[in-house]
Amino acid sequence: MEYTILNNGIQMPMEGFGVFQVPDPAVCEQAVLDAVSVGFRLIDTAASYGNEEAVGAALAKCGVRRCDLFVTTKLWVQDNSYDGAKRAFETSLKKLGLEYIDLYLIHQPMGDYIGAYRAMEELYKEGCVRAIGMCNCYPHVLADICETVEVMPAVNQIELHPFFQRPEALELMKEYEVQPQAWAPFAEGKHGLFTHPLLTEIGARYGKSAAQVALRWNIQRGVAVIPKSVHRNRMEQNFNIWNFQLTEEEMASITALDLGHSEIVDHFDPRFVQALHKRKIHD
Ligand SMILES: NC(=O)c1ccc[n+]([C@@H]2O[C@H](COP(=O)([O-])OP(=O)(O)OC[C@H]3O[C@@H](n4cnc5c(N)ncnc54)[C@H](OP(=O)(O)O)[C@@H]3O)[C@@H](O)[C@H]2O)c1
Repeated sequence: MEYTILNNGIQMPMEGFGVFQVPDPAVCEQAVLDAVSVGFRLIDTAASYGNEEAVGAALAKCGVRRCDLFVTTKLWVQDNSYDGAKRAFETSLKKLGLEYIDLYLIHQPMGDYIGAYRAMEELYKEGCVRAIGMCNCYPHVLADICETVEVMPAVNQIELHPFFQRPEALELMKEYEVQPQAWAPFAEGKHGLFTHPLLTEIGARYGKSAAQVALRWNIQRGVAVIPKSVHRNRMEQNFNIWNFQLTEEEMASITALDLGHSEIVDHFDPRFVQALHKRKIHD
């Protein structure tokens, strides 16, 4: 496992475990227990995933010290305001059964997210969260936030995989010292990623799968990854990426797979924006 030092000096694992679309509490709890026993130390959840309690239950019984775990959760759109963020943070903390959060992220830069960010800056200064950051910030939004806030975002969690590589976004994050973290590092299985001929062929040279190559490729370009799986054998595979190195030629050949757009979400579609605003996770 490799670690990155975030812009506020704290250490974050370069690979974590995501629990999006694992709504069943028993399945989620078992998945997190399996992930921790496989070696994952960073768990990525969100208020909107509806599984913070299950994540918390697993962390309480996983046998790993709190200080050796790194827990990320996210503020949902409905709570994007100063007061909303303060309230939602307390709810997340309670559901997770924790005394502090390692990384608290704004899930979508929509609504009054600057108000929410101000609340998060206070939580950070009070020591309730070790780092704060953003998700889903396109470069112009990230630049606006970085030029506005007092505590720079430590992380921007965005969709990043071989079919959506976003070099300009990474360039800007480098400029602001914001750590990129890839959601959907497998493109959620789209584009036949797990059997993709190029990724499979490269993997075969090292006795690795296409999935492992996809993760390694992001790591080698400085991008942290949070793959999700509810299958222990896949978790083991996804975690076993630290004993091989892609060559410059292999990295470059994967660059050619970039489609330059997402086929998972479209933040420029007003219907998508409306749907996110309409999605309520509490009264
Ligand atoms: N901030 C945001 O807006 C945002 C958005 C989306 C996701 N995320 C975070 O990012 C995490 C990862 O993204 P994601 O869950 O959307 O997608 P992903 O990790 O790209 O893909 C997950 C899919 O890949 C399958 N899979 C995993 N490992 C595999 C392997 N080795 N071989 C074959 N199939 C495999 C999983 O199936 P099984 O589970 O059945 O194994 C699941 O269907 C999420 O869990 C969440 O924590 C954040």
